[in-house]
Amino acid sequence: MTQVAHDIVVDKYPVALRVLHWLRALLILGLIAVGFTMTSLDDETAAKFTQLYPLHKSFGLLVFLVVLVQLGIRATSRLPGPADLPAHERVLSHVVHVAIYALLLIVPLMGYAMSSSFTQSDGVTFFGLHVPELLPKNDAAFRVFQFLHKVLAYTLLALVGLHVLGALKHRFFDSNPKADVLPRML
Ligand code: HEM
Ligand code: HEM
Repeated sequence: MTQVAHDIVVDKYPVALRVLHWLRALLILGLIAVGFTMTSLDDETAAKFTQLYPLHKSFGLLVFLVVLVQLGIRATSRLPGPADLPAHERVLSHVVHVAIYALLLIVPLMGYAMSSSFTQSDGVTFFGLHVPELLPKNDAAFRVFQFLHKVLAYTLLALVGLHVLGALKHRFFDSNPKADVLPRML
């Protein structure tokens, strides 16, 4: 009884979205760490192209699929109402969420486009399964996709940093206890 009353007051995201939110957070931070590490290694390091690149591509494509599933569930679920925040913070958090979702789709697409257009590419695999490389081979286009993949991946990291700071601010520094949105995602 108490539990039911508590849930109504807190009004959480549906459990599937909560699980996917944290799973995807881990995947993104792992991908950025692996992406940074693998590009910093010298080309003679054996694991660089045989293990790290294929793993990065597989998990990157997995994020893309997870985000599509998540957006599908989101579109068909009942979500918590607007957070109890001042208007400017509500707008800022909404803009940041939309930008994060956009980058969660664009960054892996740029990764795929980069690998697909590179003349020297080792190919794209999804946990061992061959993924067709659909774009025409063109190293000038590859360099554009490579640049966009890199810049947008680090932009995503910066937005996630802002997102986390916002969540921590609402929990620990706002005087209004209803501003704490973290329980909606736990
Ligand atoms: C949300 C998903 C992804 C994130 C956050 C991400 C992030 C990153 C980061 C941070 C780097 C290092 C960039 C640098 O410092 O130079 C990187 C490199 C790379 N990523 Fe991704 N990536 C994602 C998905 C993908 C996918 C789906 C593919 C391909 C199918 C891919 C292919 C690559 C390749 C080939 C590199 C190496 C680029 C180079 O050698 O200059 N990534 N990625
Ligand atoms: C890579 C890491 C992360 C990504 C990509 C991410 C992305 C997102 C997105 C897109 C939403 C909007 C959900 C929706 O309405 O569909 C969201 C909500 C939320 N996230 Fe994250 N997040 C990440 C990490 C975190 C972390 C580390 C925290 C906590 C410190 C956090 C706390 C929250 C909270 C509390 C909400 C709900 C906000 C609300 O109810 O208005 N997130 N996240």
